[in-house]
Amino acid sequence: MIADAERVPSGPALGDRLLTLTVGPPAAGGTFVARHEGRVVFVRGTAPGETVTARLLDDPREKADARFWRAEALDVLEAGVDRVPTVWEEAGVDGVGGAEWAHIALPAQRRIASEVMQELLRRAGVTSFPIEQVQVEPAPHDVDGLAWRTRVRYAVDAEGRIGMRGWRSHEVRPVGEDPLSAQAVRELRLGEWTAPEGTEAIDAVAPSTGPASVVLIGRDLDPASVQIPESWGDADVAVRNARGTVMLRGEGTVHERVGERMFTVSATGFWQSHRRAAELLSDVVRTALGVPEGGSAWDLYGGVGLFSAVAAEQVGPEGTVVSVEGNRRASQLAAENLEDLPQVSTATADVTDWVTARRGGVDTVVLDPPRTGAGVELMGLLATAVRQRIVYVSCEPATLARDLAAIEKKGWRLADLRAFDLFPHTHHIESVAVLERATS
Ligand SMILES: C[S@@+](CC[C@H](N)C(=O)[O-])C[C@H]1O[C@@H](n2cnc3c(N)ncnc32)[C@H](O)[C@@H]1O
Repeated sequence: MIADAERVPSGPALGDRLLTLTVGPPAAGGTFVARHEGRVVFVRGTAPGETVTARLLDDPREKADARFWRAEALDVLEAGVDRVPTVWEEAGVDGVGGAEWAHIALPAQRRIASEVMQELLRRAGVTSFPIEQVQVEPAPHDVDGLAWRTRVRYAVDAEGRIGMRGWRSHEVRPVGEDPLSAQAVRELRLGEWTAPEGTEAIDAVAPSTGPASVVLIGRDLDPASVQIPESWGDADVAVRNARGTVMLRGEGTVHERVGERMFTVSATGFWQSHRRAAELLSDVVRTALGVPEGGSAWDLYGGVGLFSAVAAEQVGPEGTVVSVEGNRRASQLAAENLEDLPQVSTATADVTDWVTARRGGVDTVVLDPPRTGAGVELMGLLATAVRQRIVYVSCEPATLARDLAAIEKKGWRLADLRAFDLFPHTHHIESVAVLERATS
């Protein structure tokens, strides 16, 4: 145990800096708060109430004045009540990243995520909703939080070995059973294959219908060097290099069914990752949106049109829906996916620029930005442009909280907020916020 910063040896060997820590409440980013001689230490790889031996990730000499240090748990001296045998041996400290809560019981993960979300909302200053009511719900029928990931990026090392990177590390580590990935991704058995020279990453997709997709990515990767292994079955295969994308098999798109509707998605384009997410979020948005028949809606950050389809059902043939999406290919696919719905039009544009240039308002908006969130400027524009309701779908509670606080100041209130465990065994949370004018 380090008594004080002065006694810590200098040098690059971070592993030498060991502390014994008693772990307290959760913090953002999947870490937990401990204290060492009054200083906050954010620890990963642990759980509330544990005593652990942790390796300091910051140099206490260089960071002697820092408000906090970061550490990762190496040994559990006293386990907390939430600890269970990990669902993924290869994950965690010194293992692959992306399953940082695999050693925590699933109900406890949701309780902890709820606490984190509530704290983020409180700190952002959201006041119009009883924050303590926000509880992370499981995806329907999810009993173990496994086999949910339908979009997986694998990393490839210089020898062509396929794995995933460690947390904040460039090292490629083996994935073993890869239990969070959907069955069709696991069946590709990528961990057993050696990628050809020049492969830097591999995107594997398990769509809800039709064959899986494998895209090999590498600036100098030669498509002629790829020998498709038998384990890939009838999967579509493509190579993306500096010159563009070459299809070795298939069309470069996958097909997703949501209810009765089919969506075509680019093999490397955005689609909700959890195998139940598209259906669940469509249902939640349908209930929340409530756009009147003959009314108008904008689907901002619309992707290939998932929520535009929901809005189009509600406004009917007399209404209007505009899907606004920055990615040209996704926007084009949205137009094709929804061509049977003449009330839908698409715009390929930056959302903030598009809303800024727009004359006249709209009844309702659904927006689903990337992790960076919509931003205060866009929330201000929407506060003026939207007449009835805003449904904000978010995969990052910190930016959601910031944006909710911003629009509250413009005379809107948070009418509902539901949170979902669509990334089990990680700290990530999906949520849907419903905003209404405070005076309505
Ligand atoms: C989280 S995804 C949501 C897509 C869609 N709503 C869905 O559920 O399938 C965010 C989308 O926003 C797009 N995007 C990101 N930044 C953007 C921006 N500034 N303007 C327009 N679109 C953007 C991305 O290309 C991506 O398709």
